[in-house]
Amino acid sequence: MTSALAYAEANFDKFVAQLEDLLRIPSISTDPKYAPDVRRAAEWVVADLLDAGIKHAELCETDGHPIVYAEHIVSSDLPTVLVYGHYDVQPPDPIDLWDSPPFEPVIRNGDLYARGSCDDKGQVFMHLKSLESYLQTGTELPCNIKMLIEGEEESGSVNLVPFINANKERLSADVAVISDTAMFAEGVPSITTGLRGMAYVQVELTGPNRDLHSGVYGGAIENPINALARLISKLHDKDHHITVPGFYDGAQLMTEAELVEYKKLPFDETAFLKSVDVASARTDGGISIHQAITAHPTLDVNGIWGGYQGAGAKTVLPSIAGAKISMRLVPGQDPDAIVDKLRDWFVSNTPPTMKLKFENLHGGKPVLVDTDQPAMQAAADAMEQVTGKKPLFSREGGSIPVVADFKDLLGLDTVLMGFGLNSDAIHSPNEKFGLDRFRMGIGTIIRFLDLYASRNRN
Ligand code: BES
Ligand code: ZN
Repeated sequence: MTSALAYAEANFDKFVAQLEDLLRIPSISTDPKYAPDVRRAAEWVVADLLDAGIKHAELCETDGHPIVYAEHIVSSDLPTVLVYGHYDVQPPDPIDLWDSPPFEPVIRNGDLYARGSCDDKGQVFMHLKSLESYLQTGTELPCNIKMLIEGEEESGSVNLVPFINANKERLSADVAVISDTAMFAEGVPSITTGLRGMAYVQVELTGPNRDLHSGVYGGAIENPINALARLISKLHDKDHHITVPGFYDGAQLMTEAELVEYKKLPFDETAFLKSVDVASARTDGGISIHQAITAHPTLDVNGIWGGYQGAGAKTVLPSIAGAKISMRLVPGQDPDAIVDKLRDWFVSNTPPTMKLKFENLHGGKPVLVDTDQPAMQAAADAMEQVTGKKPLFSREGGSIPVVADFKDLLGLDTVLMGFGLNSDAIHSPNEKFGLDRFRMGIGTIIRFLDLYASRNRN
């Protein structure tokens, strides 16, 4: 392990330069226009793994973007770690708000700016470079490694479950490790113990069969934007409680005892609000911000359209209005069941003046990870060795659907060992990843593999 750590230190600048190469590939999975770039990123990852000295790395075709699978099996006596990550990224829009182009990485004040620098190319790359550090120094890798790096995480991972089902044997492991989450705060290392799930739908209301002159028809023909806005406004009550019947059924909201523990975490509400320039929070029934953003369900409109959006004024009564709506879910809530409840609500609340189109786009299950699993302590100890601080355990509000899939399909527990920060602006303009955290992540992973393997030999 010592020589692997030394190799990582000595080659840090090379690692950063390589990461910059990967960041230059605009692997935007949601937009079909970028499919060749997404493939190029997958090929790049395979080539990098082979250069690092891994025994096997391949590009696996799916019905969508390819999956990178790699493995380095040392011995059946050793435990096997399955690393998951994603090489695809979110679209960079709104592009005008970037201070430097999203696919031309630059370092400013020790931070590497580019789309995907944190989510998740920079974080998955820490695993590739940890592996390289072992393999290139002739140090025997302390455990077996398998890697599953997909290209559709940011667009719903629709081809991932079929791939896992078709490759159960190949993916068998003792634990899964993912670096695709955030630390509690700057300088506060943490391990994520739960993630919210997701249900994502699109609704469209059609009123008249064409756009109309609002002077000729307005007042008698209902405007679909008005109707949609009225519906959306009814989805929350005055206390910001979601009104869809049955929405909270079965949801495991935090118990009083859990809340007592949760409130001990050093969450800074003032700093949180200040970081986004908002005067006050609006949470469900006034619960704490930390609880609301990590352990409580939500319903949010992510996009809305209809009518005239250009410069100046146009007196139109539009034919169509639509919205994208997503819900973050907590354990006990099932994505498909929630979508059914929301569909029923729209069907019964849509006025007779409108025709409704309701589509289920994608979903993912929420998870709580087992904090008593053997790999957890190894992860916590590795983090403490690198940072000098004991990591905190906290839930996060984002979603990584594969964590539940690993448990359900492979019986695997996951360790969520992330090095992002909420201020890294993932999915936003000016996404960044601190090079200090890139370095910290590599050091932690090298130590984690060693600690976990030495304590868990078969
Ligand atoms: N890395 C994020 C998930 C994340 C973000 C976890 C912040 C914890 C804190 C991941 O790439 C992501 O954005 N996932 C999507 C999943 C969705 C498309 C099902 C998300 O959370 O919106
Ligand atoms: Zn991610």
